[in-house]
Amino acid sequence: MVYQVYPRSFADADGDGVGDLRGITSRLDYLRDLGVDGVWIGPCFTSPQVDHGYDVADYRAIDPLFGTLAEMDELIAAAHARGIRVTLDLVPNHTSDQHPWFRAAVAAGRGSPERARYHFRDGRGRHGELPPGNWRAVFGGSSWTRVAEPDGAPGQWYYHLFAAEQPDLNWAQPAVLAEFEDILRFWLDRGIDGFRIDVADALIKDPAFPDTPDGSAVIPKGEDSPVHALYRALRRVLDAYPGDRMAVIETGAEPEAVALFLRPDEMPLAFNFAFVRAGFSAAEFRKAIDATLAANAIPRAQSTWVTDNHDTPRSVTRYGRVGRIAGAYVPGELSIAGDAPVDEAAGRRRARAVALLLLAMPGAAYLYQGQELGLPNVDDLPEAALQDPIWERSGHTNRGRDGCRVPLPWSGGTPPFGFSAAESTWLPMPPAWAPLTVAAQAADPESMLSLYRTALRLRREHPALGRGTLSWVEDAPTDILALDLVTATETVCLVANFGATPVELPPGEVLLTSLPLHDGRLSAEAVAWVEMRS
Ligand code: GLC
Repeated sequence: MVYQVYPRSFADADGDGVGDLRGITSRLDYLRDLGVDGVWIGPCFTSPQVDHGYDVADYRAIDPLFGTLAEMDELIAAAHARGIRVTLDLVPNHTSDQHPWFRAAVAAGRGSPERARYHFRDGRGRHGELPPGNWRAVFGGSSWTRVAEPDGAPGQWYYHLFAAEQPDLNWAQPAVLAEFEDILRFWLDRGIDGFRIDVADALIKDPAFPDTPDGSAVIPKGEDSPVHALYRALRRVLDAYPGDRMAVIETGAEPEAVALFLRPDEMPLAFNFAFVRAGFSAAEFRKAIDATLAANAIPRAQSTWVTDNHDTPRSVTRYGRVGRIAGAYVPGELSIAGDAPVDEAAGRRRARAVALLLLAMPGAAYLYQGQELGLPNVDDLPEAALQDPIWERSGHTNRGRDGCRVPLPWSGGTPPFGFSAAESTWLPMPPAWAPLTVAAQAADPESMLSLYRTALRLRREHPALGRGTLSWVEDAPTDILALDLVTATETVCLVANFGATPVELPPGEVLLTSLPLHDGRLSAEAVAWVEMRS
């Protein structure tokens, strides 16, 4: 079970209103008590913070906003002392426009080896005044931006899949791979256990950058794509280190394409966004589980399960959105704010059910900070407070992802709820979060936090949870999913009631339910774990 720490918003030790590494270290006991096996720490490297660290200017240094390299070493040691593995966010698709390589590329001019490390092209039109192609950037607008040449004249254009401040590297250049192999070694030498690899499947683009009907990028995905040779090379770097060094790739690709990255000599894990996309219904979760297991039915591949992350509206809000309960991680639609009322109580009830589904699935579970507190998405941040580059680049039509990035409430009755000594935090925290703080929930056995703590303890104690072989109980009624999780020593039956009326549970020991039983039966919109008698 890996816990995603979003460094800006986890805990602030130096009192500037932004989270930092010492803040994370100071809260490691909380993560140990929650029962996490590892953390994924979002990008904390030197960065102008245009995309909150996903624009890296120096891959081997910690941004002063978050601390120092020495503080990272302390964090690693303190986490390891508690049995918690540490993984970092590697951003190989693009650098910051402030990275020395990109500055050198702009300065060196047309046709230089410095420019070859990125994608520079001449523009179309008589004076090269039009972009070289029609691909659109994920954050809105064209994915081409023009530079001024060293003599000041308007010059070539460079390609960026995301914001203009995030120029894409040209991974067809061997120097780029060599540099990232070295970056990996730099962190592995410091004791890092692995990496989450950002936009991992997009490293190779069609170098002709051909126009497409909808302006989408052409990213070769098949078995023959050169991208797979890159991951084989990165895997060799991981395997050269002692211990279980790992990597999980971020990709929104179709399951068959993802499976290629999971071949034994490539990456150990890939994110699977099937649960992010699934609406709260038996049919959608059945489909998501079947698709995941089918896609991962290759030797040694492990599934991952996730409902929340720093790019997606929080699941409590997704499940509570009246008439619109599906997930939201679809390209071009990074926010679903504001288009339907939210029944937060329903959202939280459903999120409790999904928590028990998620934590029972065979494979690795990823939790996003605050999910264990049942935090809702904050969809009413004042416009002046919005920071996600999507807000500007969409011409103020898409509020972006800030709503799921609001700092964590730790304790106390008013903002900033123990997150920081500063009164104002980088995103404002809702005063209504007082009942959702860690301190408030730790004291309440019925809270979301208590549910997660208990579930994670049971997951450690029962190998069938998270490590069993899954088989469906096929005669379950509509609105009910029932499945057995089987190991050599035990069977746990999971019953998920998506319907509106309570249902009978199979005979056995009820280990945990997401809501209290209702006359001995499983409540509406609830999940139970039942250990079967052999
Ligand atoms: C990934 C990250 C996202 C970031 C983007 C560009 O999708 O999860 O937060 O904005 O890549 O690096």
